[in-house]
Amino acid sequence: MKSTSVSVCKPSLGKLKIPDHIAIIMDGNGRWAKAKGLPRLEGHRVGVSNIRPVLECLATFGVKYVTIFAFSTENWKRPTPEVEGIMEILQEEIHKETEILHQKGVRVIHLGELEHLSPQLQEAVTRAQELTKNNENITLNVAFDYGGRSEILEAVKRIIRDGIAPGQIDETLFSRYLYTANIPDPDLIIRTGGELRLSNFLLWQSAYSEYYATSTLWPDISEWDLEQALIAYSQRQRRFGTVRPEV
Ligand code: FPP
Repeated sequence: MKSTSVSVCKPSLGKLKIPDHIAIIMDGNGRWAKAKGLPRLEGHRVGVSNIRPVLECLATFGVKYVTIFAFSTENWKRPTPEVEGIMEILQEEIHKETEILHQKGVRVIHLGELEHLSPQLQEAVTRAQELTKNNENITLNVAFDYGGRSEILEAVKRIIRDGIAPGQIDETLFSRYLYTANIPDPDLIIRTGGELRLSNFLLWQSAYSEYYATSTLWPDISEWDLEQALIAYSQRQRRFGTVRPEV
């Protein structure tokens, strides 16, 4: 049965193949709010309150890395009150959640640029990363002011600045220049909200990711939705360009 929220997550299903890394495009906050006659920011507030329960649920399943797409380089083009509201929500959440995440053994990593954020936000994000850097239960990557194309361009610029010769550049070296250095590529990308696109998310890292889309709007995400994504993933045969199924 479809549960209404992500509160307690009991992996009830038999043999599921569990991805090490799940990346999530949390779409649909605005439409959820509109359907209820609420301001868009209310959708973002409810959406954000789902992040920790989803993380806890996925940790229970044994997922090691969760990446959430919280704010893209393109999201700055939204109306100023919405952008300011999102920044406020981020500030409140960091303030409210950092210590809790730390106690639960979550390592928090920011993916993206910090320089466009306010000095207070930059400091709060840096503090959260520093505090949690040795935690080992699960890693939460928060893509905030993140864009896949801009990440690739920044990597190219830093490689040139470091004077790396073309012959030395291979996929392993290039990956180390991305925000996701030392983080394995996502095995599964989940998008809520019904759209079927990547929206500039993890362009390099998603080369062989499995993709799962659901029409559920992010504020309505439930344990049931997560299980459906894991069931779909378990049925996929990943071949990474070869002809043999993985063993
Ligand atoms: C997509 O819904 C969601 C966003 C643009 C993310 C909003 C980001 C936050 C609320 C801040 C995140 C904070 C933390 C702590 C990580 P949408 O507005 O695109 O929905 P729509 O497609 O229905 O309009």
